[in-house]
Amino acid sequence: MIVETIVTTVGEDGSVNCAPMGVEWGDADIVIKPFIETATYANVSVTRAAVVNLTDDVRVFARAAISSPEFRTEPAAIVRGVVLADCCAWREVEVRSIDSEPPRSRIETEVVHRGVRREFIGFNRARHAVLEAAIHATRLHLLERRYVEAELERLQVLVDKTAGPAEREAMALLRDHVHKSTRAVEVE
Ligand SMILES: Cc1cc2nc3c(=O)[nH]c(=O)nc-3n(C[C@H](O)[C@H](O)[C@H](O)COP(=O)(O)O)c2cc1C
Repeated sequence: MIVETIVTTVGEDGSVNCAPMGVEWGDADIVIKPFIETATYANVSVTRAAVVNLTDDVRVFARAAISSPEFRTEPAAIVRGVVLADCCAWREVEVRSIDSEPPRSRIETEVVHRGVRREFIGFNRARHAVLEAAIHATRLHLLERRYVEAELERLQVLVDKTAGPAEREAMALLRDHVHKSTRAVEVE
């Protein structure tokens, strides 16, 4: 099963990177599959470690999908890395093997530590809609503009029906980003 997470990694210079990543979930093993050009791939290649954060706050997914935000973090317990201060739970992982075949690497890891901060509240359609919208926002260079706009309209209906303020804010951020990106293409 693929679980949508926020993977935090640390660069050689100590800088923190937060990236939404769909990881292959196992209780003791997690597979992370960053594209070769990502900071996540570069950082994990150097530190051989990462923190896989679980959060129900989709604003974190939205912001990290479209920019390089700084979130409050705390040092990881075991690995060289950081934990999102507001996550629900996290796994600290160490690299077992890296397959660097482009375009997408496959990093097999072992869970060496785990922790829980707060309850993960159950399913919400608006949250899932925001996750889908966030994925589209990271693939604007690959997708037809008309397709993305139609998808956003469809997903907005779910947000309007079932969202709270955080989900509405996240969706608005993503729509604004897509709107500005597609306008930039028109101008070019
Ligand atoms: C829900 C979600 C899942 C994603 N999963 C992956 C993934 O598995 N691998 C990947 O390379 N990018 C994935 N992305 C896109 C990256 O988060 C995005 O390209 C990011 O900016 C690149 O990561 P970086 O910060 O490590 O450079 C995903 C985006 C979202 C919104």
